[in-house]
Amino acid sequence: MMKWAVVLCAMLALSECAFRVPLIKGKSAREALEEKGLWEKYRNAYPYNPLAKFSQSYAVGYESMTNDADLSYYGVISIGNPPQSFQVIFDSGSSNLWIPSVYCSSDACNNHARFNPQKSSTFQATNTPLAIQYGTGSMTGFLGYDTVSVGGINVPHQIFGLSQTEAPFMAHMKADGILGLAYPQLAEDHAQPVFDNMVQQGLVQQDYFSVYLSSNAQTGSEIIFGGYKTNHFTGNLVWIPLSSETYWQITMDSVTINGQVVACNGGCQAIVDTGTSLIAGPVSDINSINYYVGATVSNGDALVNCNNIGKMPQVTFNIGGHSFSLDASAYVSQSYYYGCRTGFSPSGQSLWILGDVFIRQYYTIFNRANNSVGLAKSV
Ligand SMILES: *[C@@H]1O[C@H](CO)[C@@H](O)[C@H](O)[C@H]1NC(C)=O
Repeated sequence: MMKWAVVLCAMLALSECAFRVPLIKGKSAREALEEKGLWEKYRNAYPYNPLAKFSQSYAVGYESMTNDADLSYYGVISIGNPPQSFQVIFDSGSSNLWIPSVYCSSDACNNHARFNPQKSSTFQATNTPLAIQYGTGSMTGFLGYDTVSVGGINVPHQIFGLSQTEAPFMAHMKADGILGLAYPQLAEDHAQPVFDNMVQQGLVQQDYFSVYLSSNAQTGSEIIFGGYKTNHFTGNLVWIPLSSETYWQITMDSVTINGQVVACNGGCQAIVDTGTSLIAGPVSDINSINYYVGATVSNGDALVNCNNIGKMPQVTFNIGGHSFSLDASAYVSQSYYYGCRTGFSPSGQSLWILGDVFIRQYYTIFNRANNSVGLAKSV
């Protein structure tokens, strides 16, 4: 099967040799909790910390992941033989793959799909424990190997985590697990990331993947391994070299509104992160942006009057001599329960995160061949 696919790849046009995983835009944990009237309680118990997964824990060798209640895009993979299916967040801000297992009885495991290694003829266990630090708790488990099927590519002998305990807030998330797409240096236990394994085994002809997040529709979003689609963007595709290769990290020159620098004065570092919903940055910079767009910060939310969206300014991210602008309609989200708020969130650290609010507007190609990201206006 696999060999045949690779031979086909060599014979066909490059675009034919890409493997596509549709992403579903589902209800975020926040939306689910708001509907149940539980959001305030949840928020107080698990304060939003977009950089929780980038915390000092990295320095002591812990890989970490999100507790982001606004995350809403996920896709389906399968593991084992015969295949067992899971919904995962494709996270360019971390590098491990993990899913719940039948050995886990946490709340989050009871309401998600769980992998049963005894039902897979190709599973190989290891004795290596895995612990992934969240902002507010952790996932623990152990590592094993099996065939992982992603977008029709079977990736044999892929290492992944099987959870044994999960933090309570995972129970509110739609996805079962996480598939990390950042560099191997970030992987806990040096577990080889899925994309590295795909490349090493020659399963993709191009050493890049692309992420398209559709703005409104529940469907249409996708991640393509080994290719990108020109019909997802308009205008120039701009290549930005990475400034560091752990996250997908780039240098940002400034953030401007009507030509005036309002944040990231003199330059700053940013990561392009599909696993964070908002745009996050240092507190004073984010406060400044929210001030200039006319938002009032209350209880952690930057609120705006929904009737003003048409009058609010564009916010422009200047990167590598190019400008990437967001209209208010792109950076303001509307909740039935809480009204309108901006997607600019303080992180308490110097690193900026360009999350889904940015990626929805700019189709992103994550290029491992020359360590760059390609950005182009999404359509
Ligand atoms: C990286 O590769 C792309 C396409 O493969 C190329 O167009 C681009 O110029 C390269 N970018 C950098 C920063 O080297």
